[in-house]
Amino acid sequence: MNIHSSRGQYEVGMVSDLGDILCPTEGVAVVVDENVKRLHSPLGFDGAYELPAGEPSKSTNEFSAVSSWLAREGANRSTCLVAVGGGVTGDLVGFVAACFMRGIKWIMVPTTLLAMVDSSIGGKVAIDIAEGKNLVGAFWPPCRVAIDLRFLLTLSERDMLCGAAEVWKYGFIQDTSLLESLENRPLPRRFVETDFDYTKATVEKCLAIKAKIVEADEDETSGLRAVLNFGHTVGHAIEAALGYGNWTHGEAISVGMVVEAKVGEMLGVSRPNVAQRVKEGLMMQGLPFKVPSSLEPRTLIDFMSRDKKSSGQGLVMSLLTDIGQCKLHYGIDESVVIEALTAK
Ligand SMILES: NC(=O)c1ccc[n+]([C@@H]2O[C@H](COP(=O)([O-])OP(=O)(O)OC[C@H]3O[C@@H](n4cnc5c(N)ncnc54)[C@H](O)[C@@H]3O)[C@@H](O)[C@H]2O)c1
Repeated sequence: MNIHSSRGQYEVGMVSDLGDILCPTEGVAVVVDENVKRLHSPLGFDGAYELPAGEPSKSTNEFSAVSSWLAREGANRSTCLVAVGGGVTGDLVGFVAACFMRGIKWIMVPTTLLAMVDSSIGGKVAIDIAEGKNLVGAFWPPCRVAIDLRFLLTLSERDMLCGAAEVWKYGFIQDTSLLESLENRPLPRRFVETDFDYTKATVEKCLAIKAKIVEADEDETSGLRAVLNFGHTVGHAIEAALGYGNWTHGEAISVGMVVEAKVGEMLGVSRPNVAQRVKEGLMMQGLPFKVPSSLEPRTLIDFMSRDKKSSGQGLVMSLLTDIGQCKLHYGIDESVVIEALTAK
């Protein structure tokens, strides 16, 4: 599939051989997540920059370290950076690519389910600063996204579920047939070879949905792309309030989707029983659906108000009008959100 962006089109697709992308050639610089390097060493990562695993790598420190490494390696404007890892690796490497010598090409090789279905396409790249997550970034799409599902064979159950939350989200917001297929057969928590065809078909559906949305609103100006944020206003607040790294992004947005579906029902925006279907689906997948009892609703509202999505227009949420349909809502009353956060 080709995705059209303001910087030209780029190819997103499944590959069965990464040899041509990963072989150490002049003009190619590979950055690989440390766990991926260890678990997939037969791929050979000689000369690659090894990025420490985890969200702390989306930092100004790692941004400087990778940039300095590139400069020492003699990189120039024709160098192509290759990111091999999950969303953290992609976000950091993509941001380095956007800035190094005012912008160089990069290729994304996603190795987590979340990166395959979500973060690797759409061109959003960013690092975190003390004041907030993803606060410094750019729109800088890769020139290619090469997906090899075999990376999922080593992914932990928790990280598999993290990506599964985003997959269910696509079903809720855009595609009832995807949702029905997930309700019949949730994604595997541990990926094995026999899951290959089903997972491939599911990932391809997600890519097609995300591609259509980001092509229609690449830089998030028309509000179309913002429907992808279903579950994220509450989810980001949960992630931040618990302290980044305590819950995965997918766990937090799973609860966020349940709460935001309730908000939609309470406001009369969505059809009855939508919230129940959201909750049952996520439960069936083994994802959390309850707000952690340690979190006060008021604390979460404060985090939501500080989120960059609120942009001075009160609380903003992408709400389901029905299964498969979503619309952005502004100025949502805090009391409704508090009621949804505390509902049984
Ligand atoms: N740019 C976007 O549009 C976008 C969208 C969604 C999320 N994100 C970002 O993505 C990040 C989360 O991404 P993630 O969930 O992929 O996290 P991640 O990159 O931290 O990966 C999760 C864990 O899995 C490990 N890992 C990666 N591939 C593996 C494999 N094949 N086998 C075993 N272990 C493996 C990593 O070492 C890490 O410990 C967040 O920073 C989030 O902000 C970006």
